[in-house]
Amino acid sequence: MQQQRLPDGVSRREFLGGSAAVALAAPFAAPSAGAATGPNDKIAVGIIGLGIRGSYLLERFFASSKDTAAIASICDAYTGNLAKAGARIRTLGGNVPKTYGDYRELLQDRSIDAVIIATPEHLHATMLLDALQAGKHVYTEKPLAHTIEEGEKILRVAETSRQVVQVGTQNRSNPLYTKAKEMVAAGMIGEVHYARAFWYRNSLDDAPAWRYAIPADATEQNTDWNRFLGDAPKRPFSKPRFFQWRLYWDYSGGISTDLLVHQTDITQFVLDKAPPVSCMASGAILRWKDDREVPDTFGAVFEYPGGFHIDYSCYFGNDHYGFGEQFMGNEGTIEVLNRVSLNFYPEKLGGKAPARVAARQSLSMTLADNENKAAEAHIVNFFAAVRGREKPIAPLESGRQAAISGHLATLSFRRGQKMLWDEQSRTYRGA
Ligand SMILES: NC(=O)c1ccc[n+]([C@@H]2O[C@H](COP(=O)([O-])OP(=O)(O)OC[C@H]3O[C@@H](n4cnc5c(N)ncnc54)[C@H](O)[C@@H]3O)[C@@H](O)[C@H]2O)c1
Repeated sequence: MQQQRLPDGVSRREFLGGSAAVALAAPFAAPSAGAATGPNDKIAVGIIGLGIRGSYLLERFFASSKDTAAIASICDAYTGNLAKAGARIRTLGGNVPKTYGDYRELLQDRSIDAVIIATPEHLHATMLLDALQAGKHVYTEKPLAHTIEEGEKILRVAETSRQVVQVGTQNRSNPLYTKAKEMVAAGMIGEVHYARAFWYRNSLDDAPAWRYAIPADATEQNTDWNRFLGDAPKRPFSKPRFFQWRLYWDYSGGISTDLLVHQTDITQFVLDKAPPVSCMASGAILRWKDDREVPDTFGAVFEYPGGFHIDYSCYFGNDHYGFGEQFMGNEGTIEVLNRVSLNFYPEKLGGKAPARVAARQSLSMTLADNENKAAEAHIVNFFAAVRGREKPIAPLESGRQAAISGHLATLSFRRGQKMLWDEQSRTYRGA
């Protein structure tokens, strides 16, 4: 890579550190000396976790950011995914990435500026903390952490770090939600005290929800079980747990932290809400009666400060209604469906709507390929933040707030109890 000249008196290290400081406005810690020495140099990236999401992000990376950054290293606990990603990077990027089984070795490489973490949920917190400690900028998949306590620890540590963190709640980079936010702020739906959010899926009997295919060649020798477990309770090697970790509480919060967090996050973003003050959830395993631990049928009601409720529902046995969020004001409704369509319906109020409401035109718009574009915009925003040109649109604090709603829902379901959150003391308890 060609080295760029920096402004006089500015070292490589100061350049990237300074840009991160603009993005985070937080105290300084020494970042690693990365490869991106000037505004036009490529940011050197490592990806940790190249399963379903990691390889999707890799594709989106090459579709959007290959002139800005280069994937220099990859790490995975299953050699099959490592080999597949390596081959893809050779094809799309023309380089041979360094490969690792232990992410801590990847983090030791001082030429890496930024990492993308796309491992199972229970590994996020430790990997993120280690990455910040190593001076890397981080794009981490949601949920921010596996528990509320882990999320709080991350926030405490991040206060003394100046690296950029982008959380993978990519709806924030979806222009339909930005439009919804602008319409709400302009008063198009009046006062908003209520939203519905839902996610419905279905599949054939031989393709149970979240029972993703286990690679035929996977063995105890080429899947690193101990690295997968991390700090989770020790258990004998289990392929279903390794490849279908979403179904087990040790590694996943189930629907709450997998799907719901996206939807509470974006509702909080569109309507400018702080985290909820309470959550009451219920659920069951109704459609997929295998040895899974997490429900396939789930409902939760959230109360927010200032008088606002979210009514959440999810079911894996019928997908007629798809997924989306409906923001319901006394003067109108805005819904975003399947992340590709936005509809606006002014209230009719029995034909007696005030003139200003009656004058509003309903609206429907669909953006093709919008999901891919949103993921790409999220990655582009991350790199722009690393360079200090933009703020991350899904910073740590938003990830913490989104994760809280997910964790409260999981806790409520598992305890059979309404959960209360106190944002002042950042503590929770059963009602
Ligand atoms: N933002 C989104 O829309 C979205 C969509 C899907 C998944 N996700 C998130 O992405 C993350 C990964 O989900 P997934 O569906 O890709 O799971 P996955 O099981 O397909 O992939 C996880 C990968 O991590 C690897 N891995 C496991 N332990 C590791 C370790 N210690 N070190 C390095 N690699 C390790 C696995 O071998 C696998 O390749 C989850 O947090 C999930 O919630 C986000």
